[in-house]
Amino acid sequence: MGLSNTQEGYGALTKLFHWLIVILFALQYVGGNIMTDMARGELVLGLTQAIYYNWHKSLGLLALAIAIPRLINRKVGQLPDWAPTLSQGEQRFIHRAEQVLYAAMFIMPVSGYLYVMAGDFGVNLFGVWRMPNPIGKWEELAFIAKWTHIISGYVLLAAIIGHVGLVLRHQLFLKDGLLMRMLPQKKS
Ligand code: HEM
Ligand code: HEM
Repeated sequence: MGLSNTQEGYGALTKLFHWLIVILFALQYVGGNIMTDMARGELVLGLTQAIYYNWHKSLGLLALAIAIPRLINRKVGQLPDWAPTLSQGEQRFIHRAEQVLYAAMFIMPVSGYLYVMAGDFGVNLFGVWRMPNPIGKWEELAFIAKWTHIISGYVLLAAIIGHVGLVLRHQLFLKDGLLMRMLPQKKS
């Protein structure tokens, strides 16, 4: 398996970016819901709310840093041929869902960033660097960015459920090995 995609399949770089973002988004959903549900002063799994917020912001910005080379990799490289077992309707669905997934990779972290900066909460990146606030307190922007973050989070979740549902339907019921296209391949 080479680094780049070929007509036959996805390359190592696409697969690496894919699974890194899956892990980060999973942490963002779990952490995002824990931190907004817990009370101030409460501990969840031994961690304070401030730690959850800090990690949520830091990992979200890390996800943005990964989304940029991922998008470039997708734009400059080629895409493999469609899996032969996908119907035309499924191809159209995948295409739309992937547009939403890529858009969300940027809208989620950017809206989160704008919210915490315009809300003047700031970001202490991984607890080691308090990032400068280039925006300053701006309540209207904070309000719009916060709701963009929350609503986009639900839209993204719907796209993920559709995407994973389609892959699992093929993998488990049609048994055509669709999932294998995104897993590391042994050299043949
Ligand atoms: C990269 C992907 C990201 C994902 C998938 C994500 C996802 C989420 C989710 C699911 C929630 C819970 C929303 C709810 O209350 O229902 C949340 C809340 C929040 N996120 Fe993110 N987030 C991301 C990045 C960021 C970044 C980069 C920041 C800031 C730098 C941030 C700041 C926040 C804040 C402050 C909240 C709490 C909002 C509230 O008070 O309700 N997020 N996020
Ligand atoms: C955060 C969640 C996810 C996002 C944002 C996401 C995004 C994407 C994107 C954009 C592609 C197209 C290739 C690319 O440009 O990278 C893709 C392909 C794929 N994803 Fe995901 N994915 C997610 C979760 C999952 C999960 C959990 C699975 C496994 C059950 C999965 C399995 C696949 C497979 C098998 C393909 C290749 C489909 C094909 O072209 O044959 N994805 N994903």
